[in-house]
Amino acid sequence: MGQRQTAAPDIYSVARDHYIWPQLTRAELDAGAPQLLKAGAGVRVRTADGSEYLDLMSTVSRASSLGYGEERIARAVYEQLRRLHYGGTAHSQAEVTIELAQRIAGLAPGDLTACVFVSSGSEANEVAFKLARFYHHARGTKPRAYKVIARWKDYHGAAGGATVASDWLGVRRPMEPGVPGFSRIPSPIAYRCPFGLAHDDCGEACALRCADYLEQQILHEGPELVSAFILEPIAQADGVQIPPPGYLRRVREICTKYDVVLIADEVITGFGRTGKWFSVDHWGIEPDIITMAKGITAGYVPLGAAIASREIRDALDGYPDIHTYGGHPAAAVAALTAIDIYEGDGLLERAAELGAHALETLRELDDLDAVGDVRGLGLWLAIDFTADPATREPLPKDTLKAIVDRTRELGVLVSNNGTAIELAPPLVISRADLDEGLGRFAQAVREVLR
Ligand SMILES: Cc1ncc(COP(=O)(O)O)c(C=O)c1O
Repeated sequence: MGQRQTAAPDIYSVARDHYIWPQLTRAELDAGAPQLLKAGAGVRVRTADGSEYLDLMSTVSRASSLGYGEERIARAVYEQLRRLHYGGTAHSQAEVTIELAQRIAGLAPGDLTACVFVSSGSEANEVAFKLARFYHHARGTKPRAYKVIARWKDYHGAAGGATVASDWLGVRRPMEPGVPGFSRIPSPIAYRCPFGLAHDDCGEACALRCADYLEQQILHEGPELVSAFILEPIAQADGVQIPPPGYLRRVREICTKYDVVLIADEVITGFGRTGKWFSVDHWGIEPDIITMAKGITAGYVPLGAAIASREIRDALDGYPDIHTYGGHPAAAVAALTAIDIYEGDGLLERAAELGAHALETLRELDDLDAVGDVRGLGLWLAIDFTADPATREPLPKDTLKAIVDRTRELGVLVSNNGTAIELAPPLVISRADLDEGLGRFAQAVREVLR
């Protein structure tokens, strides 16, 4: 496993000539960075050059929560396409898509009731911004509200508003000035405080400082103009940023106080990744809109969704937004089958249990000075590395890359993510495979840091 078994086949040069690779520089391309996947089964995937890997990232983006080659989804999609391949757009929809909306409403917290379906997480966030705005317009209490507040370092996608709401992966700046009305506030990063405060572990008082910043920003922007606040409840930047106690509850209170729609972007965290259907369930918070994608179909068919509260649904009189492929029946049946599998195979409980085990295992690396912080929730885990435990200065990016590359040579896929290395294994992974993967990763960490 791991080593390339044959010389790079021609497909690699075709890939450089005929495909525009997101996020890769020319130098990285020339160094052979792209990974061409050919086939997969369970938690293992083969690349075009014949190498096989144990995939601890659920295919880089963390979408493949059910691993590769899931027969039940493939069959359900095939049968749905034979039965009804398309349900239309406005005025018409496939029955199975409506069944999915009802099913998601049953899983989502509290009063979240009505869905809009699209084809990606970015589009789901665009929908959320529109729903928030139309809601305020329709109710008439804040008819001019259009501004959206987001957070430093959160990521919300690659479409117009979602890009400008984003502060990560370098997507926003090249597109600026972009869509007007977006501003950002700091978020509570426990390990490296955005206010540069002492390195205590971001406790409740400290977290509330970040939450209260939201109130200041709403007042600063004009409450009557602020339509929505969007956040990743657990931010991905620099690896799995779990909100400190009290933060989300305070954010909820502030949004309610100023009639600002609270949007939780659960594109990564939805559908069991953290051991619950949605990550906000860990804190008992009810957003006004949740957006989702990735795990909703476990990557088998593109699908994104926004689910809105009953109050928002009831306020709307028409919804001027059309997506030709929103709620495509193949995607809807893939999602219904994925949800059946998450439920039937007990995968949420499994994610919680295996995640706790993985966290404990990764903490065995704590003896290394460069291991600054080990964190995770369910099967979403990260090690934040540091060059200096006193100042928490990040370890050079090249060192993190060397760890990821060495792990890959040992036949296991993990990802570097800013100052951290991240793991997001498929929820179907066995304990033996997980232990094998963690063991090889730990070996790579020790070898590189030695
Ligand atoms: C938190 C979050 N929101 C939104 C998106 C955008 O989703 P998509 O790439 O499906 O458009 C992503 C993608 O990685 C994401 O991680």
